Amino acid sequence: MNKKLGLTALGATLAIGLTACGGEGAGSNTDTENAAPEDLTIGVSMPTETSERWIADGANVEAQLEEAGYDVNLLYAGDDIPTQMQQIDQMITEGADALIVAAIDGTALSSQLDAAADQGIPVISYDRLIRDTENVDFYVSFDNYKVGVAQGTALLTGLGILNEDGSEGTATGPFNVELFAGSLDDNNAHFFWDGAMDTLQPYIDNGTLVVKSGQTGIEQAATLRWSQETAQKRMEDLLTSSYSDGSVLNGVLSPFDGISRGIITALQNAGYGTPEKPMPVITGQDAEIASVKLIADGVQDSTIFKDTRLLAEQAVAAAEAYLEGEEPEANDTETYDNGVKVVPSYLLPVETVYQDNIQSVLIDSGYYTAEEVAAGQTD
Ligand code: BGC
Repeated sequence: MNKKLGLTALGATLAIGLTACGGEGAGSNTDTENAAPEDLTIGVSMPTETSERWIADGANVEAQLEEAGYDVNLLYAGDDIPTQMQQIDQMITEGADALIVAAIDGTALSSQLDAAADQGIPVISYDRLIRDTENVDFYVSFDNYKVGVAQGTALLTGLGILNEDGSEGTATGPFNVELFAGSLDDNNAHFFWDGAMDTLQPYIDNGTLVVKSGQTGIEQAATLRWSQETAQKRMEDLLTSSYSDGSVLNGVLSPFDGISRGIITALQNAGYGTPEKPMPVITGQDAEIASVKLIADGVQDSTIFKDTRLLAEQAVAAAEAYLEGEEPEANDTETYDNGVKVVPSYLLPVETVYQDNIQSVLIDSGYYTAEEVAAGQTD
């Protein structure tokens, strides 16, 4: 049977499609309404090229905007906050007509967005919510809480505590697990953590899962900038501090494939991944190609697939709506309070990928070819 447990299609609630209200003046710019797409430039600010996920996002957004006729100014900020601030300033100075921004630090862009608002430039927050400002018009993302639920569920399924159909499994533990979170300046990290911990906490409370290090708070589990190296180092430290007595680690909650790869390196260096000492059950996110190969090879257990093609489509649709003087369609107008206002959002569903559905979810959908999965890299 296929492991469809983690399928988190959002179902009817999201299909209803509410119409966004608000917009803080965006969408009423008569200059752009009457202009041809060829005369309009859209600034696209992406966080980093060190993660394949964001390379795919940038490429998809750029291609789809160009297809619609717009000029595109796509810049990557090298995971450096001042660089992203400067790049967005520059986009505004150079006359961007709309901005699509995936923030490094969701709280750091207020002065750039003030400038955008002054010039009537609509701002679309891409995947990561921009916080603490009035001047973000729309948010496109996935259901980030459900990503966390899917990660927690995948950990339980991998350990055999749950069956693939979601029913209670036969494994009773106790299992030793360790917990990793993302970068705390990324709003998403908190949603992922909350979803995962709401799922795992009952099993921690009843002793089925044991966090041997005792590090069960998000601050302790956090990984600044989602860094693979930082995660590797923390895993090494955890092995030294909590597993030198010969006890074995059975599972790791990891919120992102890059972090998972750092964890895997630390574990391999410590002798895990042999018949005597199998690799713990390790989760992930983004279906990055290197990690999909690790799943195919039985090293990583699961990842959460977020179809960046669909996210790009929503970002492009939102930008087009504003530039044509309309409001984009939201399907969630309650969840994403950025500290100043609830930002109307369009949220996409996600799907859990295990070894046995790589073919149906990732290859049959054309996201990767079988050759790319076998090679662990894209062409
Ligand atoms: C994204 C995740 C990604 C992480 C690290 C988050 O904001 O939602 O998909 O794994 O950043 O890049």
